[in-house]
Amino acid sequence: MIEKINQLKAEILALNPTTAEEVENIRINFLSKKGKLTEIFNDFRNVSSEDKKTIGKEINTIKSELQTKLENWKTDLQSTKSSSANDLDLTQQEIDMSFGSRHPVSLIKNELCEIFTRLGFTIEEGPEIEDDWHVFAALNFPDEHPARDMQDTFFIEKHPDVLLRTHTSSIQVRCMEKKQLPIRVICPGRVFRNEAISARAHCIFHQIEGLYIDKNVSFADLQQTLLHFARETFGNDTKIRLRPSYFPFTEPSAEMDISCKLCGGKGCNICKHTGWLEVLGCGMVDPNVLEINGIDSKVYSGYAFGLGLERIAMLKYSVSDLRLYFENDVRFLNQFKNY
Ligand code: PHE
Repeated sequence: MIEKINQLKAEILALNPTTAEEVENIRINFLSKKGKLTEIFNDFRNVSSEDKKTIGKEINTIKSELQTKLENWKTDLQSTKSSSANDLDLTQQEIDMSFGSRHPVSLIKNELCEIFTRLGFTIEEGPEIEDDWHVFAALNFPDEHPARDMQDTFFIEKHPDVLLRTHTSSIQVRCMEKKQLPIRVICPGRVFRNEAISARAHCIFHQIEGLYIDKNVSFADLQQTLLHFARETFGNDTKIRLRPSYFPFTEPSAEMDISCKLCGGKGCNICKHTGWLEVLGCGMVDPNVLEINGIDSKVYSGYAFGLGLERIAMLKYSVSDLRLYFENDVRFLNQFKNY
């Protein structure tokens, strides 16, 4: 009996299972009904009563030690198993790694910035909180001009000279102040107007305005630049038309329409059956503006234009309601993933 026990002990000591299957086999081999250890327990009946105490203790220790060993092997093999490459679980649900998309206004802004930088324009930015000088006075707005009216402009209550810019032309004034001529800049940014929010208007929107001042800048230069912009943005078959208009800072002034890309110029609901869509304001920089900003209008001339990014994005992506841009509904935003 003692011999059998010692042999068993040695056998257990030599065990070194490497798979879960082997661990299970050891359990069966030693602890099942016909297992080696169970056999010894059966033999125990025949042990003389004076040996029963020591031998009983001995085989009980062997049993509990083996049980702990089996447990330890099991957990050890499990932890190495889960980090092994063979454990790849192809049924596991994928983690959502989808990327967000750029906002349509940012997409258009980036696209227009690229188009104009390819033409040699540089990008300038400026403050959203401005003063009367940079938004109005330096741009030849007469004191009584309706655009200064409280209805259009958000003024800061206690400082009538401090206001939220209503257009990014204020950045152009800041460029003229630096007087590094020639100037060829585009000014993207957020602007604010005290307007009732509707499908076609919002009190916050985004603009890009352009300014080119050099010797001999002509209206033909403006027209060609805008035609290029229209074709690059809306497709090569896009036509433009300029209608006379008025802005305090340009003379002559014009508004530019593009041929309606939805109906191809035949007339539809979007273009109100005219075949044309209004996209921007433009003109030759008024000599008064050049003089106010210390630029000699006898030597220099320039053109300027300004457009609303939401409007361009609406036309390009066929968005029917301006408010969608500000709601940040992912169902709307997700539609711009492939642009
Ligand atoms: N600043 C004008 C606006 O916000 C747009 C414009 C810019 C028109 C430059 C003409 C020339 O409406």
